[in-house]
Amino acid sequence: MTKVVVAYHSGFGHTKAIAESILKGVARVEGIEPTLVNVDDLGAPDQEFKLGPEWDVLHQADGIIMGSPTYMGTVSAGFKRFMDSCGAIWLTQAWRDKVAAGFTNGGALSGDKLNTLTSLSIFASQLSMIWISQGVHMDSENGLNRMGSYHGFMAQSEEAAPDQTPPKEDHATAELFGERVARATLQWVTGRPS
Ligand SMILES: Cc1cc2nc3c(=O)[nH]c(=O)nc-3n(C[C@H](O)[C@H](O)[C@H](O)COP(=O)(O)O)c2cc1C
Repeated sequence: MTKVVVAYHSGFGHTKAIAESILKGVARVEGIEPTLVNVDDLGAPDQEFKLGPEWDVLHQADGIIMGSPTYMGTVSAGFKRFMDSCGAIWLTQAWRDKVAAGFTNGGALSGDKLNTLTSLSIFASQLSMIWISQGVHMDSENGLNRMGSYHGFMAQSEEAAPDQTPPKEDHATAELFGERVARATLQWVTGRPS
């Protein structure tokens, strides 16, 4: 099975809800084993930069979809902690050629969320991963990709509980985005279907 992990941070549950919809889309693709990882559950590296066994699911993944809320125009501190825990992975280039993609969620329509996606893609590039774009075209009739984001996926939340916001349009886009990245990962691992 080709393995795709959705690795997210979420302070208040909204980015988690989007991560779960992305996972749904990933799971729709035959031949893919989907896993959801909250980066808060990953321990910090030890004095020698060694990571614990809870990181194995990421080491073994063929593709990693990374998601963070946008806080102060960039990734959250919780997600940055995950990024900064990857020093040994950068040093050894252990995640080279894994597929990568990214998403974010913020309170504003813009909210400088592109900066978060750019941070995620630069992080993936530092690890020599293969970045996959968002790939769901804007469709104003049904609200798909309603923020017109192509580098990665953007969702937007109001000040309400995660079961009410982001809206269903963002969850629908999230599922299509997850499916796209899963298909791209499968193709990267097994070759282009004829
Ligand atoms: C400290 C802080 C900073 C924030 N900065 C931004 C921001 O720069 N842009 C934005 O669109 N939303 C910003 N927000 C709003 C959050 O991104 C929004 O509430 C989001 O739904 C939080 O996701 P979460 O529930 O997964 O933590 C900020 C929220 C907090 C708590």
